Amino acid sequence: MTTKLTWYGHATLGLETDGHKLLIDPFFSGNPATSASADETEADFILVSHGHGDHVGDTVSIAARTGALVISNFEIANWFDTQGVEKTHPQHLGGGFQHPFGYLKLTLALHGSALPDGSYGGNPAGFLLTTNDGKKIYMAQDTGLFGDMSLIGDEGIDLAVLPIGDNFTMGPEDALRAVKLLRPKVVIPIHYNTWDLIAQNPVSWADEVQSETQAKVVILEAGEHFQL
Ligand code: NI
Ligand code: MN
Repeated sequence: MTTKLTWYGHATLGLETDGHKLLIDPFFSGNPATSASADETEADFILVSHGHGDHVGDTVSIAARTGALVISNFEIANWFDTQGVEKTHPQHLGGGFQHPFGYLKLTLALHGSALPDGSYGGNPAGFLLTTNDGKKIYMAQDTGLFGDMSLIGDEGIDLAVLPIGDNFTMGPEDALRAVKLLRPKVVIPIHYNTWDLIAQNPVSWADEVQSETQAKVVILEAGEHFQL
């Protein structure tokens, strides 16, 4: 069994695992960092980490076209119900569920979660996925550094996806500290260089991470993928 993670720019990810197609925070329309289009991307499942527009993105239209099941926290899942999304699955922080693609747990994230129309979006989340062959993938999405990342690290992380953009999320220095807490085998940086406000040099960050930790950094261009 293989698992393939594609970075579509910003915090938008694709995962193919055990024959299932997942999209995470599918922000294509208006995303200056992506070359992909909301009209062409396939999904069986869509995961939404929090309510901000650059994460809710094109979820409603992609779910309508593909019939994908949308998974998010309780408040956002209910909001998608009111937006005409037919299939939603609410979870919440600390709660896991065995989906066809693997065991998905929502993790803590330090961030906001208001929805684009001002509705309350509950608490923001990260995702900890255990694939059907036992690989652990932590997708932090938007968060600041928090010490309980070490608890997530205790699970034995094969791949961590971390924001490094600063300003809205962890910057490079805190993301390096996050790697030390998470102890992943591989780390992929996201949520940078979408706009000038979150401009970062991923190569110098990778050099620092690889000199100070055991983790291997994989820098993807938008549209490129990493195979676990
Ligand atoms: Ni956000
Ligand atoms: Mn964001």
